[in-house]
Amino acid sequence: MTVSDILISPKGGTADSKMEVKMSLLDNMIGVGDMVLLETLNEDSFIENLRKRFDHNEIYTYIGSVVISINPYRSLPIYTPQKVEEYRNRNFYELSPHIYALADEAYRSLRDQDKDQCILITGESGAGKTEASKLVMSYVAAVCGKGQEVNKVKEQLLQSNPVLEAFGNAKTVRNDNSSRFGKYMDIEFDFKGDPLGGVISNYLLEKSRVCKQPRGERNFHIFYQLLSGASDDTLMKLKLDRDFSKYNYLSLDSATVNGLDDAASFRTVRNAMQIVGFMEDEVQSVLELVAAVLKLGNIEFKPESRVNGFDESRVKDKNDLKEMCELLGIEQSVLERAFSYRTVEAKMEKMSTTLNVAQAYYARDALAKNLYSRLFSWLITRINESIKAQAKTRHKVMGVLDIYGFEIFEDGDNSFEQFIINYCNEKLQQIFIELTLREEQEEYIREDIEWTNIEYFNNAIICELIEKNQNGILAMLDEECLRPGTVTDDTFLDKLNTICAEHQHFESRLSKNSKFLTDHSLPHSCFRIQHYAGKVLYRVEGFVDKNNDLLYRDLSQAMYKATHSLMRELFPEGNPAKVNLKRPPTAGFQFKASVGVLMRNLQTKNPNYIRCIKPNDKKAAHIFTDSLVCHQVRYLGLMENVRVRRAGYAFRQLYESCLKRYKMLCKKTWPQWRGPARDGVEVLLTDCSVPSEEFAYGRSKIFIRNPRTLFTLEERRRACLEDLATLIQKIYRGWKSRTHFLLLKKSQVVVAAWYRRYAQQNKYQKIKSATLVMQSFIRGWKARNILRQLKYEMRCKEAVTTIAAYWHGNQARRELRSLKEEARRKHAVAVIWAYWLGLQVRREYRKFFRANAGKKIYDFTIQRIMQKYFLGLKTTTMSPMDNTWPARPYGFLEGAHTELRRIFHLWRCKKYRGQFTEEKKAVYEEKLEASEIFKDKKALYPSSVSQPFKGDYLEIQKNPKYQKLKSAVEEKVLLADLVNKINRANGKGSPRLFLLTKSNFVLADQKTGQVKASVPLPDLTSVSVSTQSDGFFALKLKEGSASASKGDFLLSSEHLIEIITKLHRIGTTAADRDQINIDISDEFLVQFKQDKVCVKFIQGGPKNGNSAACKRKNNRLLEVSVPSSP
Ligand SMILES: Nc1ncnc2c1ncn2[C@@H]1O[C@H](COP(=O)(O)OP(=O)(O)OP(=O)(O)O)[C@@H](O)[C@H]1O
Ligand SMILES: [Mg+2]
Repeated sequence: MTVSDILISPKGGTADSKMEVKMSLLDNMIGVGDMVLLETLNEDSFIENLRKRFDHNEIYTYIGSVVISINPYRSLPIYTPQKVEEYRNRNFYELSPHIYALADEAYRSLRDQDKDQCILITGESGAGKTEASKLVMSYVAAVCGKGQEVNKVKEQLLQSNPVLEAFGNAKTVRNDNSSRFGKYMDIEFDFKGDPLGGVISNYLLEKSRVCKQPRGERNFHIFYQLLSGASDDTLMKLKLDRDFSKYNYLSLDSATVNGLDDAASFRTVRNAMQIVGFMEDEVQSVLELVAAVLKLGNIEFKPESRVNGFDESRVKDKNDLKEMCELLGIEQSVLERAFSYRTVEAKMEKMSTTLNVAQAYYARDALAKNLYSRLFSWLITRINESIKAQAKTRHKVMGVLDIYGFEIFEDGDNSFEQFIINYCNEKLQQIFIELTLREEQEEYIREDIEWTNIEYFNNAIICELIEKNQNGILAMLDEECLRPGTVTDDTFLDKLNTICAEHQHFESRLSKNSKFLTDHSLPHSCFRIQHYAGKVLYRVEGFVDKNNDLLYRDLSQAMYKATHSLMRELFPEGNPAKVNLKRPPTAGFQFKASVGVLMRNLQTKNPNYIRCIKPNDKKAAHIFTDSLVCHQVRYLGLMENVRVRRAGYAFRQLYESCLKRYKMLCKKTWPQWRGPARDGVEVLLTDCSVPSEEFAYGRSKIFIRNPRTLFTLEERRRACLEDLATLIQKIYRGWKSRTHFLLLKKSQVVVAAWYRRYAQQNKYQKIKSATLVMQSFIRGWKARNILRQLKYEMRCKEAVTTIAAYWHGNQARRELRSLKEEARRKHAVAVIWAYWLGLQVRREYRKFFRANAGKKIYDFTIQRIMQKYFLGLKTTTMSPMDNTWPARPYGFLEGAHTELRRIFHLWRCKKYRGQFTEEKKAVYEEKLEASEIFKDKKALYPSSVSQPFKGDYLEIQKNPKYQKLKSAVEEKVLLADLVNKINRANGKGSPRLFLLTKSNFVLADQKTGQVKASVPLPDLTSVSVSTQSDGFFALKLKEGSASASKGDFLLSSEHLIEIITKLHRIGTTAADRDQINIDISDEFLVQFKQDKVCVKFIQGGPKNGNSAACKRKNNRLLEVSVPSSP
């Protein structure tokens, strides 16, 4: 990617048409969009260009392919989805400068050319690096593939930002959301360009902030977010108070920041943690550690004098210590001891020394810093675990580096951190120089352009000063730290003064190089390095300590013993089983190593640079402070950057696009150049009289040395475009008018043709109808003539026919009359002949005919008829139930026919009876008797006809239940049935067994079978029943007999007809008397002991269902209501 790519590139037909509408980098420029095109290049014109663009909200400017971004400190409408679409798949220089153009270029060359990319974002604190990195990530997320899985990966990558910002960012005087760590994120893509996952690396978290914050700044956001945003319940669990002032580690002067809602941010962070994949218990553990750090800050110490004269520190108020120990699951005494004593181990010897108050505070803060920074590293490892790419295939990688820019505190207050940061920037600058210059030189070689060596400052010498293995500053610092004996910052400086004295980029007052002896801007405890971006004065105080980064082993062992789930992971060196007497690597050493890894990583990738600039110190919009910007431009080396770019040729372009853009400047190339594009460009430039030293012909590109030349070409192009526009307008107008005229003319011809056709059609219709009229008149006249002729002929024919008909009729009638006459005569002759013959025959036969012949014929006929009649009766069946009988054939047989039917019936009944056994006969006799007694007298009778008389309904012989009863009754039981004995007192019935033998009837208890009454049949005088369909009957006993002492029986039974019939039959034979009287009436008297009670039957409604019910009306009346028969 080089300046040469300034293309208004054709990308097929549609892109061409877009090109006409869209702006080019060169069109409507505010200032110049690319600093390389600045006409006169100096710091003033550079800054003026930036300011001009900034004032017009153009915050992005290019230096070739490097994007300069100026923080606008307000939201601009240039990050909309429409903008994303606008920049998507467009060439870098096609549209006005934008961070999206860089992101698009990087993404496309990653996707399409398989080149790993890295995006290096640098600038000072507050310049907008983090925002830029987020913009790049969101742009890539917007343009890369979609789909459920891909969207999840994108979401996780994007959501890692709020989590890291909460734990790694803080409000500083320069930036309300300042990243206090360096971040490098590798985003991994598959071959289609869909994101698969990522890896985050962090560099040097500013952990000193945990314990102490400069004035006007505050601690890491998470502390404030937790206290403001967590629920009361959570705070209680974490043993925290919402009040910031309760915590020593939270400085109060900037606890709340304008425009920052800590409570809302806390919710966002928790949500983001959930999306990234943190488990609920992991979140809780993290918050517990944050709370523990706050608690740790509140632990205070007091001196306690010992006998040996030394002071020993003691924890002042143990409450916070206790709570912290509870949070982390540490035994309180262990931690308390670790704050009072320190064990020193050397060569198998262990010594315990006491800590004084200052040492205890140092130990406490070291623990807090370590706890927090290790928690931060753990968070990054945990996020990496979540966002790790799953697929094992080769990934394409886009790295985004958001790292602190060059840091210079003006008052010489630069410390170890600034030294480390600036070292990192030196390394980045080196990469920048190496890669851009190499690229530039490679392009010249590729294009076969004569190469003029570009002079630039190579900062390798500064890098060496810092990082060289034997006598680099970092190595010396490490050496001091590891050296036995007294080591202080001053001894370190002395060492530097000795070893680096001759280095041209090292300055110190007391160095062996005496040229700084009188330099009062160099205090004694300081040294100065001439970085590529300027001189920086470092104060050595704290260098040794910070580099050592010491945490007493007793503390790490105490932490390792904690039961909290994360502590072992965070303090592995505390494991007593793995006591390592070696010192842990120093901070400087670690940083140098990780920077080394980062540089090697970046070197394998295609770099894309975003240089962020902060326009003012007030974090305010619309303010552009020249001095501040100038300072940044200097130390970012931007001028140098432009110079390098312009050292050879300021502008280059593919022949095709150059020809396409400027072909209108020359008649030979306009409108179309047929030959090779290179020749076209040559002809064009010669025609435009561009001096030959102003350009060089490469293999595929034309190189223009001076921006002025380009602008002249652009100016001429613009003028030419205006002429061309007029020409196009002229041609278009002519074409439009001509087309309009031709259209009118064509229309006129059509209209005329249509009209002529219409007129001719009308005329033709008129002639046609006139002709038809004349034709019809003539045809009529002719037809009438013919008709008249035909009518005359017709009449002649009819006259002839009529005359002929009359004549023929006359002839025929005459003929008929003579035929009739002849027929009549023939008939008369036949009749006379017949009579005559009859007379002759009668006379002849009279003598043979007998007088009684008529009677014989009659008898014969009758006989035949009767024979036939009797044969017809033969089919009748023998069943007495069969009612069929053939119809009478002759009226005279009426009487005989009926009589025959009767006789036949009687005869077949007799035949039927003849087949009966004795028992069956008895049954029928009983049925006959029942019929005699009840037929037409009692309404119940008809329903009983079809029921066979079973006699023993109780099956008394077989049923063992009636054993007792069987033995009580000696004779054969003829009838056994269940009856109801009606109680006079209430008319209700009680069930009784009713048995009938030849001589007695017996009433017995239904359950026990005990005989209640046994009445000899001679004592039974009469039986009363009603005429209705009920089952009530009264057995009346002979007055004065032994059985009658209890009175008559009023009973009811379902088999009334059978019982009465049997009683009547047997009673009559047993008593040897005429008959038992059967009294059928609806009212009868029953003798109950002394009283006679009338039993009256009435037809009642169907109140009690279908059965009759007896009811006592009064002392002398029982009323039985019988349902009316249907
Ligand atoms: N492109 C932008 N549009 C609008 N505001 C911006 C933009 N870039 C930065 N800002 C504003 O500037 C502030 C600081 O930006 P940012 O945090 O990115 O700085 P930084 O360079 O990362 O600083 P540090 O080195 O301290 O982390 C942001 O919080 C935001 O308010
Ligand atoms: Mg930042």
